[in-house]
Amino acid sequence: MDGHLNVKPSDVISEIDERVYGSFIEQLGRAVYTGVYQPNHPTADEDGFRKDVIEAVKKLNVPLIRYPGGNFLSQYRWEDGIGPKSERPTRLDIAWREIETNEFGLHEFMKWSKKVNAVPNMAVNLGTRGIEAAADLLEYCNFPKGTYLSDLRIKNGAEKPFAIKTWCLGNEMDGPWEIGMKDAEEYAKLANETAKAMKRVDDSIELVACGSSSMDNPTFGDWEETVLDHCYENIDYLSLHRYYGFYNDDDPTELDNLLGKNVDLDQFIKGVVAMCDAVKSKKKSKKTINLSFDEWNVWYHSNDADTKVEPWQVGPHLLEDVYNFEDALLVGSLLITLLKNSDRVKIACLAQLVNVIAPIMTDENGGVWLQSIFYPFMQVSKYGRGKALVPHVQTETYKSREFDNVAYLDTIATYNDQDKTVTIFAENKNQDETLNFSIDLDDLIIDEIIEATQFSGYDPKQDNKDGRMQIEKLTAVSNSDTKVNAKLNPLSWNMLRIKVK
Ligand code: AHR
Repeated sequence: MDGHLNVKPSDVISEIDERVYGSFIEQLGRAVYTGVYQPNHPTADEDGFRKDVIEAVKKLNVPLIRYPGGNFLSQYRWEDGIGPKSERPTRLDIAWREIETNEFGLHEFMKWSKKVNAVPNMAVNLGTRGIEAAADLLEYCNFPKGTYLSDLRIKNGAEKPFAIKTWCLGNEMDGPWEIGMKDAEEYAKLANETAKAMKRVDDSIELVACGSSSMDNPTFGDWEETVLDHCYENIDYLSLHRYYGFYNDDDPTELDNLLGKNVDLDQFIKGVVAMCDAVKSKKKSKKTINLSFDEWNVWYHSNDADTKVEPWQVGPHLLEDVYNFEDALLVGSLLITLLKNSDRVKIACLAQLVNVIAPIMTDENGGVWLQSIFYPFMQVSKYGRGKALVPHVQTETYKSREFDNVAYLDTIATYNDQDKTVTIFAENKNQDETLNFSIDLDDLIIDEIIEATQFSGYDPKQDNKDGRMQIEKLTAVSNSDTKVNAKLNPLSWNMLRIKVK
């Protein structure tokens, strides 16, 4: 089968906002306790953070991390997580039915995120709390000194303000599972008033309002319209959340369908962009609302196991999906979709980062292991920087159970004019056939192929618990001055990095 990509350096979708490679740490399961934080672990540093986890996270080049939730957020009192650890209250986390010791809180997260070279995407509780707690938290974090809350931060060890720029106004407030769920009107009014108060405390911040927690929620659409209608001038981004699953392991055509979920993601993004722009037009506003895709991933493997977990434990084994090869292919394709929409998706968070539906797993009595999804995310996050180029693609398509037109060749190129490199990410979704991939770089003259890699050859159901998965060299590559040819294996994720003159 043949597939072709043509790109021009002047034909640009957008400068890629690096925050599109964000991730998420929720105080849930073992993300924090025995994940990020485990003072009795042999690799623990002076703050009790696992150094093996820090090293693995750094490899992902995640520039932004959302915290502290998630569903956890909607019942959390941020004040519980500050001050001397011995005085912090142990509480019920009624969102996940766990015990929260609060040993890890705001200051610990700020220290840890610095160690992994990321900035926070902080969230305020609009489930059980509201304007006052949100404004207080912002004052505590960002006000220099001289007030009760800013001086309290200093007393607690942070002389300099945290200067947190991006803030989420609650989490999934349309979800019936959420503590303090609200209808659209209630949420929209509360979010707007909270936004106004927060911007009075610090007008340099950016705010993300909750969109629907899923496109499948019955209020999807009406929710967005109401929230945008109330909050338009006081927010900067609207959020989207989407998780994908595979529900019929016995039917091989389901793999075709799973790998077509990028079509769903694309439709979701374009639909929400249209809603933002419709309200912009209605309001005759000069401002454009962009998107924060602040939760996305594959999530279904752990569903059954989670129903058997005993409640009221500290750091229970919850949401510990073990990802297989097909999940990695889907994650690669979803990343390409985010880049294709990088003109409007400015923030995105792979949910989550450690142990909980995560690319990085820990053994509390051992080391770290990397999931299949780690690899495509690492490559795109590291090399997919600069500009996203409009992909002019010729490819055959297939029809699956849910999608009429899934491209066998899913591809995008990014161009970094600082170091004059073009990086091409390409996935062959054909289960049986090699794809003869031809690339035309138009007026860019090739200096050298820096690197060509493939991630392929595994059974779709193979996981990486034994650490056998690796990125390999893609050998069947040739080039002329402006063109490259490569053979992409059936079911493969590939990357080509090209130095241009
Ligand atoms: O990421 C896991 C959960 O998924 C989050 O807590 C919640 O926001 C979403 O439903």
